[in-house]
Amino acid sequence: MTELVPPRRRSVLYVPASNDKALAKLGQLSCDAVIIDLEDAVAPGEKAAARAKLAGILAARPPRAEMVVRVNALPGEWGADDLDAAIRARPDAILLPKVDTARDVLEAGDALDAADGAGNIALWAMIETPKALMNIGAIAELGRDPASRLACFVAGTNDLAKDTGVAVTPDRRYFLPWLMQMVLAARAGGLDLLDGVYNDFRDAEGFARECAEAAAMGFDGKTLIHPAQIEAANAAFSPSEAALAEARAISEAFARPENAGKGVIALGGRMVERLHLAQAEKLLAKAGGIGA
Ligand code: COA
Ligand code: MG
Repeated sequence: MTELVPPRRRSVLYVPASNDKALAKLGQLSCDAVIIDLEDAVAPGEKAAARAKLAGILAARPPRAEMVVRVNALPGEWGADDLDAAIRARPDAILLPKVDTARDVLEAGDALDAADGAGNIALWAMIETPKALMNIGAIAELGRDPASRLACFVAGTNDLAKDTGVAVTPDRRYFLPWLMQMVLAARAGGLDLLDGVYNDFRDAEGFARECAEAAAMGFDGKTLIHPAQIEAANAAFSPSEAALAEARAISEAFARPENAGKGVIALGGRMVERLHLAQAEKLLAKAGGIGA
């Protein structure tokens, strides 16, 4: 990944490490990233076998997708062995479940720093416990320090529902304050942010609606459970043609010699400031790799 083209994380597909049939499909899928799951999608009796397959799974990784491994919670029965195996498999990132505090992320970072071969492996954090939401500002702040390795938040909406007793409704009305809190924290920390999964994978219409809402709320992408969800997520989290055209127009306008020293200009009857130029450049950079 170069710094010029930030990674796209529109569609991020969970695949249980224990599901050989699903793993065999990865090369044909157009998701931006894959999360190989050792945690909730793998039954206790299958944990060790799934862990033992990690290195082979990563060795056969699809060429273009970012590869992430979700380990079991580090303080638990399987966490330490999972982390060792994940580091040896060299994914792009390790996703930590059940993060409660900034310390949880720092401790995982320390373990990576102390391990051989952890090089550039990033950390992603699930935001899925009430404590994580109470502490989200401090957790997100770690994103400002590259040494923490923290790069991305993933909303864990199923666990949040389970731990809070909040009702899950089609419009997610009771979750919206928490989801927006995640958006704010992720932006404050310079982190990417992925929405939680949509469990009813046969309901394409409901899924597309939830993607559109998440994109409007500021999420970078959505975590997925089924290949049928990839295309709609890629579409929903890609900038529209109109947004790209507007960004190009702003960029071209500020590049004109007569506008060189100006902080604010008029474009098509609207005020455009240099902050809009920065926003336009970010959008164009992020779109740079799309379809490449
Ligand atoms: N990744 C890759 N391939 C997948 C997949 C996934 N997450 N989910 C399903 N597939 C494949 C199936 O293997 C099947 O392949 P085939 O065409 O070669 O037979 C095809 O897509 C169609 O699958 P389908 O029959 O519709 O679903 P299923 O009953 O096999 O699986 C689930 C349904 C929900 C069990 C499965 O999608 C799954 O395990 N998803 C991930 C769950 C997970 O990781 N949860 C943890 C985070 S919330
Ligand atoms: Mg969870």
